[in-house]
Amino acid sequence: MYDLIVLGGGPAGYNAAERAAHKGLKTLVLEGRALGGVCLNEGCVPTKTLLYSAKIFDYTKHGDAYGVKCEGSSLDHAFVVGRKNKVVKQLTGGIAMQLKSAGADVVSEFGIIKGRDSEGFTVEAAGKEYKGARLLICTGSDALVPPIEGLRESVAGGFAMTNREILDMETVPERLTVIGGGVIGLEMASYFCSAGSKVTVVEMLDHIAGPTDGEISKILLKNYQKKGVNFILGAKVTKVGEGKVVYEKDGKAESVDADKVLVSIGRRAHTQGIGLENVGVLTERGAIVTDEYCRTSVPGIWAAGDVNGKSMLAHTAYREGEVAVANMLGGKERVNYLSIPSVIYTNPEVASVGETSESVKAKGIEAKTASVTLKYSGRYVAENEGGDGIVKLIVDKEHNRLIGVHMIGNYASEIIYGAAMMVEKEMRIDDVKKFVFPHPTVCEVIREAMFMI
Ligand code: NAI
Repeated sequence: MYDLIVLGGGPAGYNAAERAAHKGLKTLVLEGRALGGVCLNEGCVPTKTLLYSAKIFDYTKHGDAYGVKCEGSSLDHAFVVGRKNKVVKQLTGGIAMQLKSAGADVVSEFGIIKGRDSEGFTVEAAGKEYKGARLLICTGSDALVPPIEGLRESVAGGFAMTNREILDMETVPERLTVIGGGVIGLEMASYFCSAGSKVTVVEMLDHIAGPTDGEISKILLKNYQKKGVNFILGAKVTKVGEGKVVYEKDGKAESVDADKVLVSIGRRAHTQGIGLENVGVLTERGAIVTDEYCRTSVPGIWAAGDVNGKSMLAHTAYREGEVAVANMLGGKERVNYLSIPSVIYTNPEVASVGETSESVKAKGIEAKTASVTLKYSGRYVAENEGGDGIVKLIVDKEHNRLIGVHMIGNYASEIIYGAAMMVEKEMRIDDVKKFVFPHPTVCEVIREAMFMI
């Protein structure tokens, strides 16, 4: 009998299991694929490994601007994929060790919830039954492959790929067409453009990077157009196959030729086949319904990570898992979804937290904004010939509180957590002005921008 059974060993599951075991709960993790989930095996970590190689390669291409001669540099894609596998192996091995030393049990099988009785819940995995007083569902999400004509056949035949297959592709395709200009599409477009593919991104909306602040999204688009990526915006893909991606734009059918296609049009919570119906866990549009305390509709069952469909980010998953464990032990913690930072690891990087110009308008919040060039930072100028990065602040007029920070420019990914804390703590700009930021850094432009609002 376990105190807690965790279904799924991705960021939500493994982190929560470790925390729970540390708190003294007898904990079991069931994971049918690999510990680390999508994040470690086919998401965050592998893509960052690829993108780092692309970044170094990009630097060599522009070395001249910094007095560094790098003629004849090239990117060895097969080596990069091999290194990615090594990094993934090292980190997944680390998770297994962490769980072991915390005292949590791990069974490498998929679990199916069978039912509940007076003692708790029964979960079956590979024909064996496990009993748990509580359940934490962290089964994650799968790439969405919608019923677009020819798409499923193209994925089955290898012409089209999801985020999983593209990471193991052995060669760089001459022409890569990316369906969906969201986070995955842009990060992969970024890598393959640097690696030498002719990349076309077909995006249904009139802008890239989904909910990213419009001003930032436009700068990112310009940067990637300059690098040679072709963007077809306002275009809905209707057919994939025979070396083509067909789309509808302004009422007309057009097509783009491709050697390989990446499908990155979103992800769907993984709620099928895990036995939710056996205990009556409520789902909505395919995702488990949870409240900010990470409770599901069934007392004793909690859910964290992509499976709730709220904010499909590994760091949200960590926090949700921790909140669930704290609350099952009698705490009253909550997840504040408004102050979760997000990053797109393109080159330049994009990082955001809180409200955007578009969201304040939609919500009717009276806000003032300041968009400030990163050229106010000596370090940025020293390191970015021709850089056009900005930081943008969104401040609510009524209380002068910082409610959104958006950046485009390198280091943004490492800086945004500080801005997220300011947003979480509802800091007024006059308070932030009193902080001392290190100099010369790129982050000091955030402080500078406070004086311009
Ligand atoms: P996404 O939701 O970010 O973007 C999908 C895009 O596809 C949207 O812009 C949408 O308008 C477009 N689209 C949908 N149907 C289309 C059609 N028929 N034709 C053309 N365009 C179409 O989804 P994505 O990029 O697949 O990422 C999935 C999840 O993974 C996201 O929730 C994201 O947060 C997460 N992720 C996060 C990363 C990070 O934090 N750096 C990295 C990679 C993924």
